[in-house]
Amino acid sequence: MPVSARSLILTLALASSVVLGHVARAEYGGDGGILPAGTELDDEFSTTQPREIFKSEAMQGSKSYMVRLGDMAFSSPSLLGGPARQAGISCDTCHINGTNNARLFVPGMSTVPGTFDTTGPIFNPRADNGVQDPVTIPSLRGERFQAPYGHDGRFTSLHEFVRNVIVNEFAGTEPSPEILDAVVAYIQDIDFLPNPRLDLNGKLKGTASESEKRGEALFSKPFTHDPNLSCAGCHIPSGNFLDHQQHDVGSLGSFKTPTLRNANFNAPYFHDGRYATYDQVVIHFDRMFYLGLSKQDRDDLVAYLKAVGDGQEPTVPDNVDIRMKEVRDFLSVLDTAIPAHNAPVIAMTQDTVGGELRDLAEGFPERKDQTVTGGKPERAKARAAIKEMVLALHAVGAASDAGKFDQAGVALENFRAVMAESVPVIKLAEPWSIYNPEVRAARLAAFRQLYQAAIDPKVVVRRMDPDE
Ligand code: HEC
Ligand code: HEC
Repeated sequence: MPVSARSLILTLALASSVVLGHVARAEYGGDGGILPAGTELDDEFSTTQPREIFKSEAMQGSKSYMVRLGDMAFSSPSLLGGPARQAGISCDTCHINGTNNARLFVPGMSTVPGTFDTTGPIFNPRADNGVQDPVTIPSLRGERFQAPYGHDGRFTSLHEFVRNVIVNEFAGTEPSPEILDAVVAYIQDIDFLPNPRLDLNGKLKGTASESEKRGEALFSKPFTHDPNLSCAGCHIPSGNFLDHQQHDVGSLGSFKTPTLRNANFNAPYFHDGRYATYDQVVIHFDRMFYLGLSKQDRDDLVAYLKAVGDGQEPTVPDNVDIRMKEVRDFLSVLDTAIPAHNAPVIAMTQDTVGGELRDLAEGFPERKDQTVTGGKPERAKARAAIKEMVLALHAVGAASDAGKFDQAGVALENFRAVMAESVPVIKLAEPWSIYNPEVRAARLAAFRQLYQAAIDPKVVVRRMDPDE
């Protein structure tokens, strides 16, 4: 779940204090000072989130306990250590709903938005390789097909990769075998979005345009100067456009062939995010392998890549219903963890769901917030209802901490009763919350004005001059 609401509020608060002259511009940032100034964790003004689909849901109608546990842990800052945890960062901050995050930008750790240096100095100084070498955050859609792991393919085991992320890159404590298995089970369950334009062998179906068909033919045509190579020789259409190999394609190193499925949603491209569009990628290959492509050829390849990279319904709205479904999913972990007296999992669930609820609450602007008019009593009631839920949830964790698991079970029943009463109250206030796209747009406009004022000293002076 995006941390949008929280960082939005912080950003607005900081931007307005800048206007009032209390805070220096250098302190502008979304995380309360743990991350460098200028940090962006995501698109605060997006009214949608990436759609996530699961193999097990499609096959069996529901996700297993391990997949739900892994999903919850993936959204839990407590899985990571030190600064990441303090800044409220979880796996899901970078891999939103198991995809990428094209907006993430941390000065010093990113070169372009969507990239991040996992061997940089902030999250674990011991993992710092002393080189600023940010790479794109890969989408984990279809990850079970995408070994080896890491852009350079340095890990053959997903287990090892994930453990390394937690313990070394983000200085977390050694995860229990159960949690590690669960995160891996969750990642392996994330599917590609279906693409009805492709058949089972990755071939375009009959409905393709002439340009797409020419592009498909070019894609499998041997390169003139190196007939052992073709696009399709590395991006094998029947194998999810992968070959599980590393190659040097002239991008300063050896990197694994990335999938082209759902790649329309994966920009920026190449390991370091150097290309914003397919057009630029095609020009790279044209130059690198002396392909001698005409403008028409390039356009045809791009049309083909767009057809291959598509996916059905890539986003879903970010609204109260979707967020409540996630709360229910995460919470269902407790139906197994409480009878099993699994105190660490109960604590993590309470912490994670509590964070999601607080984030939800911040989407209902407070009375004094001037970017939203109307629905003041409704918003206040929604915030109060969410607070009730947080308190009811706390009782579950407290009982478990005290070793009273029967009592934790009763507290969970109570939480569900409180939730059932709260949801209608929360939904009533939705029109005046950031879960209404119009409200979000109005807040974006207000933010822009404040931000503009913050960076333009003349405007600040004018605004602060009471005589004007
Ligand atoms: C601050 C951003 C960030 C966070 C937080 C983060 N990742 Fe990543 N993730 C990345 C980047 C960047 C890469 C590419 C790293 C590389 O190539 O070495 C990556 C790569 C991966 C890959 C390999 C993908 C592939 O096909 O090669 C997996 C799996 C993964 N991350 C899982 C996780 C898990 C699980 C967590 C939480 C424990 C997590 N990530 C937290 C940024 C992040
Ligand atoms: C020798 C193997 C090889 C050949 C041939 C090849 N590619 Fe690639 N392709 C790669 C590798 C490796 C990368 C990743 C480079 C990097 O990360 O720096 C890549 C990256 C890409 C990307 C960016 C995907 C992303 O998510 O970053 C696209 C699009 C692409 N190739 C399309 C093509 C097209 C079109 C052709 C033919 C003109 C082609 N490739 C030929 C191996 C190959």
